[in-house]
Amino acid sequence: MGRFDSPRVINIEDLRRLARRRTPRVVFEYLDGGAEGEVTLRENCRAFETISLRPRQCVVFDEPKFATRVLGHELSFPAMLAPVGYSRIMHRGGEVAAARVAGEFGTGYILSTISGHKLEDVKRATNGPAWFQLYLVGGREVSEAALDRARAAGFSALVVTIDTPVAGMRERDYRNGMKALLGRSLFAKIPHLPQLLARPRWLASFLLDGGTPKLENVIVPGQGPLKLEDVAAALGRSRVEWKDFDWIRKAWPGPIVVKGVLTGDDALRSLDQGAAAIVVSNHGGRQLDTASATLRALPQVVAAVNGRAEILMDGGVRRGSDIVKALCMGARAVLIGRAYAYGMAAGGESGIRRALEILRADFERTMRLIGCSSVSELNGSFIEAPEFWPRRTCS
Ligand SMILES: Cc1cc2nc3c(=O)[nH]c(=O)nc-3n(C[C@H](O)[C@H](O)[C@H](O)COP(=O)(O)O)c2cc1C
Repeated sequence: MGRFDSPRVINIEDLRRLARRRTPRVVFEYLDGGAEGEVTLRENCRAFETISLRPRQCVVFDEPKFATRVLGHELSFPAMLAPVGYSRIMHRGGEVAAARVAGEFGTGYILSTISGHKLEDVKRATNGPAWFQLYLVGGREVSEAALDRARAAGFSALVVTIDTPVAGMRERDYRNGMKALLGRSLFAKIPHLPQLLARPRWLASFLLDGGTPKLENVIVPGQGPLKLEDVAAALGRSRVEWKDFDWIRKAWPGPIVVKGVLTGDDALRSLDQGAAAIVVSNHGGRQLDTASATLRALPQVVAAVNGRAEILMDGGVRRGSDIVKALCMGARAVLIGRAYAYGMAAGGESGIRRALEILRADFERTMRLIGCSSVSELNGSFIEAPEFWPRRTCS
């Protein structure tokens, strides 16, 4: 029995616990934490708990259909892997490992701009769909070069994240010395070194991998890959405006996905900009604290879009039943962030694999328990949402 097999690891929280044990505090809390008081981070998960399921009993399953289609890609179950920046710090397999496992499970992977592996290597690692997530770090010229590479490598959609005009205030990163540890000054790092030395296996693997990775997909002309320590400043100058979609559409002729929508109004603006899909997301509670939980924001976006684009959601998905609930409320699929990243931090590829096994098995079991044999049949009649939530399709 492997390290991640049952009964040691039976849910995502178990992987979270192992991730905490394997990685230094600064790495674990970067992954685990949210912005400011972490209200939105908690609410994302709590929103799922406030929804009850309404099962149909005695339903016979001939051929269950758990697969779905997202932007024309067949996914074996309705969950894709969200872009997670700095993945290579959590484990040296990083983005390549995540893409490979996504492909093995018949689902898609979204590569963050803030990635330590070359996008070509990531695409080669997976036999599933791969999308590229764009931050405008380094400016338009740098982004256009990345988009050219992504298209040539075979990435099939572009995800533009719109909720990051500045980096959120992640208090845990400040306390743990994230900036000092990524920075150039050895002197500034000294107070934070004990937490790295306390995780010798992670540290050895990190050093063997060459230490702090460079951003292989943000190539600054005349300088090469952007250094990780320069990312925060670059992100601070990278905000996207609606009018940027004019040039983004020219640079990326394929489908565009707008990620970070929380209101019907922004959903409509995204449609105006030609979005083929929208991700209802608050960045996993890492940007604007006290922003709406995504599950609560979902119905108004579904109503505003009214079938004119595909709707995905993320934030707080930790169980297969969460996926079912999101679909009942109108999402076509969910993105998972921390759920697989805990697995990655706990043990690279095998940890990610375990995370997906857990979520897929949970999802299929929940479908059977509610008596629904096909994702296309999930609707509001399978759930009970609190009275004060915006309503939709509840039959
Ligand atoms: C450690 C970490 C790094 C992230 N980096 C990015 C990123 O580079 N780009 C992006 O669009 N979203 C990023 N996100 C947000 C995720 O794509 C996703 O929206 C969020 O994780 C969903 O919430 P969940 O973690 O509760 O599943 C990141 C999230 C985490 C946890």
